[in-house]
Amino acid sequence: MRIIIIGPPGSGKGTQARRISDKYGIPHISTGDILRDAVRRGTDLGLKAKTYMEKGELVPDEIVNDIVKERLSMEDCVNGFILDGYPRNIAQAEKLDQILRESGKTIDVVIYLVVDDDEVIRRLTSRRICPNCGAVYNLLISPPRKDELCDTCGAKLVQREDDREDVVKARLNLYKRTFEPLLKYYETRGILVKLDGSKTINEVWAQIDGILSKLDFKNR
Ligand code: AP5
Repeated sequence: MRIIIIGPPGSGKGTQARRISDKYGIPHISTGDILRDAVRRGTDLGLKAKTYMEKGELVPDEIVNDIVKERLSMEDCVNGFILDGYPRNIAQAEKLDQILRESGKTIDVVIYLVVDDDEVIRRLTSRRICPNCGAVYNLLISPPRKDELCDTCGAKLVQREDDREDVVKARLNLYKRTFEPLLKYYETRGILVKLDGSKTINEVWAQIDGILSKLDFKNR
């Protein structure tokens, strides 16, 4: 089961990818999470990625491609994975195909979550994350029980640097410039599934689970 989930920033990719990972027992690979973790730890990778991420720009392809190549070679990916936030352009998509080809594999399905700009801005400016355990909250639909403290570990929640409204708008503009060719890339392969991502989290999940449970992954 090799899945990609794509869509604009804030379309719910991470939220739904975690559910797919839990239900189907495959690792959730988020390039955004890997890069943020590197920034937090101040590694060489983090230092290189930080300035791009803060401005809502893409981290250079060669850096991200290397991260994904290494992650996909790990033992837990042998029965599949859900990729979230990668690929983001044709160069990355071609690189991913090449990496998979080397082990005789292909992508089974690409789930595209469609959400409009106003909803993206609403969701992202109200997102808060726990800097300690990574839990994700939303002040509008899933606030923490107490003030802005994490329900799980009690740490003070923070806003992602790139969730400020001006940076969200920059991310949306970049998305619009780069995503159309990527959608066509997967559409012509017949593996793109377009879903309404503007519904509630449970309703979007029901659409995704309905599709995944019908696909025959065994012979791929
Ligand atoms: P990344 O972390 O991948 O950011 P993104 O793609 O912009 O996506 P988000 O994480 O913001 O949103 P999401 O779609 O996962 O939504 P979520 O489920 O969290 O990348 C960050 C940066 O890293 C990039 O800008 C770039 O610099 C760099 N980077 C990463 N990958 C790269 C690559 N391949 N190449 C180059 N650079 C790369 O939900 C958002 C909020 O909405 C949450 O609060 C959630 O609770 C809420 N929510 C979710 N679903 C719903 C719903 N159905 N209804 C209401 N609220 C909802």
